[in-house]
Formats: sequence, C-alpha cells, structure tokens
Amino acid sequence: MNTVVSGIRPTGQLHLGNYFGALRNFVKLQHEARCFFFIADYHALTTHDNPEQLHENVRTVLAEYIAAGMDPQTATIYVQSDVPQVTELSLLLSMHAYVGELERTASFKDKVRKNPSNVNAGLLTYPVLMAADILLHRASHVPVGKDQEQHLELTRVFARRFNNMYGVEYFPESQPYNFGSELVKIPGLDGSGKMGKSENNGIFLADSDAVIRKKVMKAVTDAGPAEPNSPMSEGVANIFTIMNVVSEPSTIEYFKEKHAACEIRYGDLKKQLAEDIIKTVAPIRERIESIRNDDAYLRDVLAEGASRARESASKTVEDVRQIMGIRRF
Ligand code: TRP
Repeated sequence: MNTVVSGIRPTGQLHLGNYFGALRNFVKLQHEARCFFFIADYHALTTHDNPEQLHENVRTVLAEYIAAGMDPQTATIYVQSDVPQVTELSLLLSMHAYVGELERTASFKDKVRKNPSNVNAGLLTYPVLMAADILLHRASHVPVGKDQEQHLELTRVFARRFNNMYGVEYFPESQPYNFGSELVKIPGLDGSGKMGKSENNGIFLADSDAVIRKKVMKAVTDAGPAEPNSPMSEGVANIFTIMNVVSEPSTIEYFKEKHAACEIRYGDLKKQLAEDIIKTVAPIRERIESIRNDDAYLRDVLAEGASRARESASKTVEDVRQIMGIRRF
C-alpha cells in the first residue's frame, strides 16, 4: 500500500460508531501510507443541495474529521473543488466511459428509481468523476464500504481500458482497502443492529451532555436477568459492547458481576455509560466547535491541502494529456 485516496461526502454528523469504527482506522492509515482525504463537494451537487447548506456541510465535515484525529499535517486534506484538475481528468476519462456501463451501475439505477424527476447528467457520470478522484493521485488503495465497491470496480475498468488503449502502464488498478477485522462495530441504543445516522439510534459527536444522558437513559434493556448467570438480552449486551470502548475495565467487570448475580440496576448501568460516553465525546465536541468557528484555521488547512493535492494532480493531468495527444507545439 503506498497511496490512499478517500472521498468523504459532505453530510456531516459523525456518530460514535463512525468514531470507533472507520475513523480510528483512517487516523492510523495516515501514518502508514501517503493519504489524500478530500470532501467530495462536486459529487454532492448531483442532488442539488442549497448553496448555504452545502457550504456549511463542508465546514462541519472538515471540523468533525479534524477534531476526531485526521491530521492535516500528516494527510493531505482538501476540498475536491479546490483541485479543478479533477474535472479535466474526469472529462478525458469520460471519452472512454460507455453510457451503457454507467446506466447499469446500481447507484444510478437506484437514484433513477427514487428520484425520476432529477436524472441529471452529473448523476450518470458520477462514477467517472469518482474514478478521476482516485486516478488523479494514482491511488493503490481506496478504503470503501460495500456500497462503493461497484464504483471502484468501474475505476479499475477505466484504468485498464486507458492503459490498453494507449499501450501504456500508466494507471494502477486501485484496490479496495477493507479494514476487515480491525473495524470495531458499535451497536445502536435501540436494542438491535449497529449504530447509524439514519436509524436514529446513535450518539453524535456534536451531542451535548444533556442530549447524551437523555439518549442513553432511553436505551433498550429488558426486565432484568431471570436467574443468576442467565445470558444477556441483545439490548443489554449492546450496552456492554459500547462500554468496552468508553469505560474502565473495572467498571465493566463490576456491572457484569452485578448482572450475573441478578443484582443489576439498569438505571445505574445507563448512568455510568452516559458519563463514560460524555468523557469521550465532550472534548471532541469542544474541538469541533472551535475548529468550526475558526475560518482562518480552516482557510490555512485547505490552502495547504489544495496546494499539495494540486501538485500531484497537475502532474497526472499533464501526463494524461501527453499520452492522449494533447500536446504543445
Ligand atoms: N462516492 C463516495 C461515497 O458516496 C464518495 C467518494 C467520491 C469517494 N469520490 C471518491 C470515495 C473517491 C472514495 C474515493 O461515499
């Protein structure tokens, strides 16, 4: 693994599941490879966000990722639209992308079904722009979730096609990078399944102490263990799973013993969990707030990121122009 590229949708609102899951791994990855992390604001436009919303979402996502440990000194963090070379590469790649294969992408078909009145050309060429994001830095690896694997597959198709077409070995076949067993899964507070943004079962990094307490006190448990050493219901087991990442081992041990002895009071368990979550979240929330409100800092970070990304991008675009025959006299 040498070069990693990852695009982040500017939707904001990271939750504990993101923080202890993918984000932890991104933070580690920064030190293991040359990393380009960017906010995919061009991609966001396919759904016609209102302009203020889009701008604020970019700010939020940046503040949240940086507050959670993404380091602009170590990784190259930039906003996609600050590196316009990506649009040229996207245009050049689109000459070898067939409409048929774009129409067959699962995400495109899904969008057409859900939103038949807004089937714009940007939606169709979304995978081409994404391939350009990745090939712009000739990424060896791309950390992606299941829903993005088909897009990455297409990226490899475009890379191979380009290489074959022009008889070069220029673009790598960017491989998916799965965090696999290192990915910690955090359950939701609703008794089953994992924590998600839309499931409404999670704690957001931006939640206040009061909101965290309220959400945790409503977490699903059960009527209490029926007899000593009886197995835990899923809801109660989930509370312990979250405790595993935020609480002291001795605290967890204490409540496990109480459960085994049928003496547990779920109210006390939840109070403890809420305080331990607050210990993790409160400092991150404060960092998010201070970064969000610091335009000068954001400007500096993004200027530096854009300049590093442009250096890598303009080299690629220049090479591709040469290869395709766009040459100066
Ligand atoms: N399509 C990705 C998503 O919806 C975001 C994205 C855009 C991306 N360009 C990328 C991810 C390049 C990885 C690499 O989450």
